[in-house]
Amino acid sequence: MERVYIFDTTLRDGEQSPGISLNVQQKLEIAEQLVKLGVDAIEAGFPITSQGDFEAVKAIADRVKGPKIVALARALDADIDRAWEAIKNSQNPCIHTFIATSDIHMERKLRKTRDEVLRMTEAAVKRARKYAPEVEFSPEDATRSNFDFLCKVLEVALENGATVINIPDTVGYALPNEFGKLIKEIKTAVPGLNNVILSVHCHNDLGLAVANSLAAVENGANQVECTINGLGERAGNAALEEIVMILDTRYRSLGKKTNIKTEEITRTSRLISMLTGYQVQFNKAIVGANAFAHSSGIHTDGVLKERVTYEIINPQKIGLTESKIILGKTSGRHALKQHLKEMGYILNEEEFEKVFVRFKELADKKAEIINDDLEAIMADEVRTTTVEIYSFKSLHVSSGTEEIPTATVRLVKNGKVIEKTVEGDGPVDAACNAISKVTGVSAKLLFYNVSSITGGLDAQGDVTIQLDIGGKKVLGRGVSTDIIEASARAYLNAINKSLTK
Ligand code: KIV
Ligand code: ZN
Repeated sequence: MERVYIFDTTLRDGEQSPGISLNVQQKLEIAEQLVKLGVDAIEAGFPITSQGDFEAVKAIADRVKGPKIVALARALDADIDRAWEAIKNSQNPCIHTFIATSDIHMERKLRKTRDEVLRMTEAAVKRARKYAPEVEFSPEDATRSNFDFLCKVLEVALENGATVINIPDTVGYALPNEFGKLIKEIKTAVPGLNNVILSVHCHNDLGLAVANSLAAVENGANQVECTINGLGERAGNAALEEIVMILDTRYRSLGKKTNIKTEEITRTSRLISMLTGYQVQFNKAIVGANAFAHSSGIHTDGVLKERVTYEIINPQKIGLTESKIILGKTSGRHALKQHLKEMGYILNEEEFEKVFVRFKELADKKAEIINDDLEAIMADEVRTTTVEIYSFKSLHVSSGTEEIPTATVRLVKNGKVIEKTVEGDGPVDAACNAISKVTGVSAKLLFYNVSSITGGLDAQGDVTIQLDIGGKKVLGRGVSTDIIEASARAYLNAINKSLTK
């Protein structure tokens, strides 16, 4: 059995997806869940890029035990020093330093010669190794780099103490057979690679990130860098859940194992989706809502007679259990607290009270409350923003085919209720305009999506909104059985985020 290490970069490359902005508390929650999932390494961020990123990486390094905690740094002294400052208290720290090696990147972006890049590689790895027991080196845009030069750079990184070499397909350009061949050939050309971890990091611009990662593993790579739900720059990175379930489901053919506790996959995917506001595509492999749904008569009949006729993975294997009715109108504080505890949530009194109020409101409108409803309330109430500058109090909307839509919104700031009534093109527009009036923040709507959390007409609506606020893209999310209220909450969530930043 050969082991494949799983290096999760959801908090670094994943967070580079447009509009995602996680606060320290949310990043810590994700990191703790990644520990439960059993990843080998967590790339926690890029500390030099902002004070917020530095603090998040530091908090994770200080508190999260188990996996390697990795901080990204360009091949520059200041980046490396900052990365080390952030992770020095970790049990298992690793500095990940990178520099581009393709001619196009060196000439046009870095404006450096090959010799300069070689010297920078040497200096960076050497400096990082003075601090950290583990140093990963990545030649950015490796798949468009000159092969001989690429090998030279890797040799320099290894000579100076790199313990992990990562080969990125930065722009998602490679084809699986080419990428597999590249991995095989560099292993032969640079024998030192056989004594370190050989990692790959594939982007999904052509939809080949997972296929390329797999081709690399089949040709000798023993670490895959990936993200939950395939988040990441542009079209994203290789999806962790897909890589892991391919290796698991096709173990007999591939013969490689990971340490991932697959039963935690669904929970992790949902947590990431809720905290980032990035909904998972319905037909996404492994974690999409339809991944285990059978609609045609022949398929349904087949699955009912024998599950494996149309299911190659047992849904329980990825922690997908049937949603059970868990609570209702008559359930009290104790029952809710107990149930949240069973779901893994321990809340402080203030958080619990907020969740309890939302739960009671929901139970008045919806007879049967299931886990997914509670997850949605948790996402909305506890995890939205640590600093809620304005909190939502109430919304009244009047609209119809023959009247001008009007919304009255009441928000609370520093204990004071502020109310405004504003008209709009429709009820959602009116509600959002009223929020802008109260907060003094105007925004341009870039994206709006509403979906239902559970089935049934009384289901909660889940609204994701992307706004342009002062030239910055900000995501917001809100849930309610009333989709206008959910929209208003999502809009306010985005505004609070922009004010907090
Ligand atoms: O895509 C890329 O090349 C990266 C590097 C920093 C590894 O994200
Ligand atoms: Zn990347």
